[in-house]
Amino acid sequence: MSRTVLVLSGPNLNLLGERDPAMYGSATLGEVIAAAATRAAAAGLTLEHHQSNHEGVLVDLIHDARQRCAAIIINPGALTHYGWSLHDALATFEGPVVEVHLSNPAAREPWRHTSVVAPVADGTIAGFGQAGYVLAVDAVERLLEGS
Ligand code: DQA
Repeated sequence: MSRTVLVLSGPNLNLLGERDPAMYGSATLGEVIAAAATRAAAAGLTLEHHQSNHEGVLVDLIHDARQRCAAIIINPGALTHYGWSLHDALATFEGPVVEVHLSNPAAREPWRHTSVVAPVADGTIAGFGQAGYVLAVDAVERLLEGS
């Protein structure tokens, strides 16, 4: 069985570290993923990370993970709130899906309160900053143990 976990980062997350550090923290995306990858390695999992500012590229990456990756961890950025093609693509993925956010969208502007990804995710981790990615890896490990 595959032990590869696809980690997807949506629009603007490439700017982590520079973009609104009070909201998203000062770590770069590379640092966030490296910390999660260290946790994953301890659990015998390998992270494969991609970031894109383009919805269709993220859809293609989800399709490519089908029958290849054990699980998906996704922070869709603003696409969380309206990216229905991500919802539909994730619905075709057979393994666990964990949605993660650095900030807590539910405590922010009303347009961030809806996630179109949440209905096709096993669960969502939000509001814990960089640590949320490590928690997402822990969640995936538990979900895979139970499967
Ligand atoms: C985010 C929350 C989204 O509302 C926002 O558009 C982002 C980042 C987060 O990680 O907190 O780009 O997904």
